[in-house]
Amino acid sequence: MSRTIAILTGGGDCPGLNAVIRAVVRSAILQHGWRVIGIEDGFDGLVGTPRWRELTLDAVRGILPRGGTILGTSNRGNPLAYPVKTEKGVVLTDVSAQVVANFRALGADALIAVGGDGTLKIARRLQDLGMPMVGVPKTIDNDLRSTDVTFGYHTAVEVVTEALDRLHTTAESHHRAMVVEVMGRDAGWIALESGLAGSADVILVPEIPFDLAAVCASIENRRQSGSRFSIIVVAEGAYPLAGGKVVQATAAENLGVERLGGIGTFVSREIGTKLDIETRVVVLGHVQRGGSPVPFDRILGTRFGVHAVELIAQTRYGRMVALRGRAVVDVEISAAVDALNRIDPGGELIRTAEALGICVGR
Ligand code: F6P
Repeated sequence: MSRTIAILTGGGDCPGLNAVIRAVVRSAILQHGWRVIGIEDGFDGLVGTPRWRELTLDAVRGILPRGGTILGTSNRGNPLAYPVKTEKGVVLTDVSAQVVANFRALGADALIAVGGDGTLKIARRLQDLGMPMVGVPKTIDNDLRSTDVTFGYHTAVEVVTEALDRLHTTAESHHRAMVVEVMGRDAGWIALESGLAGSADVILVPEIPFDLAAVCASIENRRQSGSRFSIIVVAEGAYPLAGGKVVQATAAENLGVERLGGIGTFVSREIGTKLDIETRVVVLGHVQRGGSPVPFDRILGTRFGVHAVELIAQTRYGRMVALRGRAVVDVEISAAVDALNRIDPGGELIRTAEALGICVGR
């Protein structure tokens, strides 16, 4: 049966999105003879006048190694709470009915939404409103349930690990405590795994509120034993036992999306004040999200894209593709959202870190 399918990428970008787009287009055209259209800038492209383009084989040629997304994305265009300018100022309004109407007008049979928790919640709602949806999980944060890992995550861990390797040499030369703030929102996966791979001395994650005295004691112990420098990896969502998360903008100030950042500076200042050691802070920021995906993310994105097309071929909607062990499977979209995949403070990875003498803030 000839079909038209649509695809969009929503939320923050991450390496591997183009691998999914390419795999969807190639398998839809080559295996099924379907037409594929790409919605621009996430769900934003279905609000107001729809913005979309044809995705032909030519349109996806050469994009596999490219970071970002050729379709554009937005983490501000949530149709369930869309910022609409009124006389009373900006009012967050549910425009999902408009999205459904715009989608129907395109004549597409199904929509593949590639995104994180926010995008998949929107996909679940649209599915409930009768739009045939398939979800593909992405995020560098690796905080989505129902999949062992999201694509983009391994690239971010690689970037942070390389940064830690580089920071080691300069920290050692200057006998400094180098504090490295990394992304991840309310999950500490990037901090923990890159900290392990990059031989960090202290790893602070949101799942374990940290005790500053324990952090300082571990740096001091290292100094006593002859290591006059330390590498401290801090997840942006980490916070001290006595205190809360450090935010740059609250959800209320930032159209419903909390923007984290600043905990690295706090930790660096506290260590510098409490210990007689020079400190520096490095905020890796969006470098972690940019650039070419590592092979793992290219392959996972490709497998997810092909499986998403298979779900549409079987008219199995409301499903999200996922990795379980070594197999690509699919689950209900609703099973993947609402609760996050976070580190177990008593789990094997944390115990491994502690077995090596890494301080995790307790
Ligand atoms: O969810 C991915 C992520 O990179 C988080 O790790 C980070 O907190 C956030 O997005 C940053 O978002 P923005 O691109 O809006 O600054």
